[in-house]
Amino acid sequence: SSGPDLAGCRILISAGPTYEDLDPVRFIGNRSSGKMGFAIAASAARRGAQVVLVAGPVSMPTPPGVRRINVRSAAEMHDAVLGSLPADVYIGAAAVADYTAREIQSQKIKKSDQPDGGDTLTIELVRTRDVLAEVAAHAQRPRVVVGFAAETHDVEHYARDKLVRKQLDMIAANQVGCAGSGFESDDNALTVIDAERVHSLGSAPKTVLADALLDLIRARL
Ligand code: PMT
Repeated sequence: SSGPDLAGCRILISAGPTYEDLDPVRFIGNRSSGKMGFAIAASAARRGAQVVLVAGPVSMPTPPGVRRINVRSAAEMHDAVLGSLPADVYIGAAAVADYTAREIQSQKIKKSDQPDGGDTLTIELVRTRDVLAEVAAHAQRPRVVVGFAAETHDVEHYARDKLVRKQLDMIAANQVGCAGSGFESDDNALTVIDAERVHSLGSAPKTVLADALLDLIRARL
């Protein structure tokens, strides 16, 4: 696409991983680089949208014209995203942690403090809040709510389940755990599913898929 075909559209995007701190030096994270979400933010801004990008801890430059809010944990991502509504479109490209530590230890966890002398370590994790599901159920729900689904197997099956359960308009499913797709790679392979159709966008650079996804979103606005 060329030209400002998204002018006046407010698009809120999440990108990157979250880091769930365990103690002052350790955290639970994941391999998301932010490339997919940043590519969508860059394309949307280029096409004239007003873009807010809520970014987990990544080393990516802010695309031109994008307002960026940096966060670290799933809880911070939740507050930044919900606090940025209203928007016309929400795209959840972040890999948000499903679990966080029940307690963040204020001092470094010591092997010698464990009951068995440190041969094993037990950390209790609790569920995080589902940012995407809360956006979709919000009083200020965006007109188009798009989730991502990162699966290692039965991609379409699990993606369709998320579409229905989280009340999304669209879900972009990618296979993870293989080369040339998903986390970290410059390329991805996306299948976009909505209530009516399955759109196979195929394998391409994330920058190209970003524009194809925005074309599908624009058609629903
Ligand atoms: O960042 P890259 O290296 O470019 O990689 C891109 C990507 C693979 C991370 C991206 O394309 C992707 O698939 N993002 C979603 C990854 C993921 O966490 O999927 P999920 O199936 O666990 O979550 C499903 C959806 O729920 C996602 O839209 C996620 O943002 C959202 N979610 C999940 C948990 C939670 N607590 N809150 C959420 O909003």
